[in-house]
Amino acid sequence: MDMFNIKPKVYFGINALNHLNELKCKRALVVADPFMVKSLTVNKITEQLDKAEIEYKIFSDVVPDPPVEVIIKGVQIAVGFNPDLIIALGGGSSIDSAKGIRYFSRYVNNELKNNVSQPLFIAIPTTSGTGSEVTNFCIVTDKGKAIKYALIDDNLTPDEAVLDIELVKSVPKTITAETGIDVLTHGIEAYVSTSASDYSDALAEKAIKLVFKYLPKAYENGNDEEARMKMHNASCIAGMAFTNASLGLNHGMAHALGGKFHIPHGRANALLLPYVIEYNANLKNLKGNVDTSSAAYRYTEISKFLGLPSSNQFEGVRSLIAAVKILMNKLDIPKYIKDPKISHSDIEGKLKEMAEAAIKDRCTKTNPRVPEVSDVENLFRNIFPKE
Ligand SMILES: NC(=O)c1ccc[n+]([C@@H]2O[C@H](COP(=O)([O-])OP(=O)(O)OC[C@H]3O[C@@H](n4cnc5c(N)ncnc54)[C@H](O)[C@@H]3O)[C@@H](O)[C@H]2O)c1
Ligand SMILES: [Fe+2]
Repeated sequence: MDMFNIKPKVYFGINALNHLNELKCKRALVVADPFMVKSLTVNKITEQLDKAEIEYKIFSDVVPDPPVEVIIKGVQIAVGFNPDLIIALGGGSSIDSAKGIRYFSRYVNNELKNNVSQPLFIAIPTTSGTGSEVTNFCIVTDKGKAIKYALIDDNLTPDEAVLDIELVKSVPKTITAETGIDVLTHGIEAYVSTSASDYSDALAEKAIKLVFKYLPKAYENGNDEEARMKMHNASCIAGMAFTNASLGLNHGMAHALGGKFHIPHGRANALLLPYVIEYNANLKNLKGNVDTSSAAYRYTEISKFLGLPSSNQFEGVRSLIAAVKILMNKLDIPKYIKDPKISHSDIEGKLKEMAEAAIKDRCTKTNPRVPEVSDVENLFRNIFPKE
């Protein structure tokens, strides 16, 4: 038996934030990163809460790739404040922190209190990337072990998502590009996932098409409202696809890379994507017969709906890889990790550990090809420049 989950209500479009002043809550905990406070973005939320006469507290200790410690501090504040509304404002890091805070606030003295009523949880993304506003994923970092973990549980999913493009217009070019490729990676990995279904395919297909059409426009001109709205929708739609179909090796590897070297999540995905497609498609071993469950077949389907040359699977897979590389070029995304702080010996010394972490990552379980440690090490080698 299969199941498809479409839980959060999504409010989107111009003035979507007005939804907040309709709420009948008493106390809101707003979870954000310091940029949201410094840039006064958080005021767009608190003005609505004032109108609705909702008391609020702002917790703005969120940092990129949120560590467990941030969530613990947030839980302490939530338990003291006892909110009936939690609002996450920010990118995936703020939304995932809020997910962790709500989830673990149910534990009082290490005991799960299922009978305690849960605060309403509203996620308001300010990047068009992770889709975290509609997913049951929460990515947390264990700084001690330098590992990012993907927690997956339906109790993590927000109740509502609010997509307002006023919040994404300020996203700088590099972050627009990198978070946009995160959306593309979600769409492609959900489409070739071993848990893909007709339901997730429909969403993944739409998200992939929107990214190819609108990401270059949003990158070129951040004030292009149509492009921003389409990318915000694409991010959310891709989230709906992968919260059901899950992801694959690209994300497993991006988490390992982020945990060890703090490469921003979208950039980590972008660097790896052409190589992971090539690896999964396994063209060298492709037989003449058409196996409709193979990754090569599924990538070719993507090429077909994008209108790329795809008369057979060799051409289909190569066209998709070429289209991804052309898109990355347009977005000025580098082909290698160029960080003077990361030396070649650093990398070689950590490859095995990173490869093992990537294989253990929950996202990798639904990858269409089962990877060996040596395969993953070789995939990582592609994105570090040779000395
Ligand atoms: N839960 C999920 O389903 C899921 C899926 C994919 C990735 N993730 C996780 O999400 C995190 C990445 O999230 P992200 O890519 O959205 O980045 P982020 O939340 O880490 O933010 C990146 C930077 O962008 C800035 N920023 C955010 N919104 C802005 C705006 N409107 N204007 C200007 N600057 C802005 C932030 O202040 C920060 O400096 C990673 O930890 C990743 O592993 C989660
Ligand atoms: Fe992602």
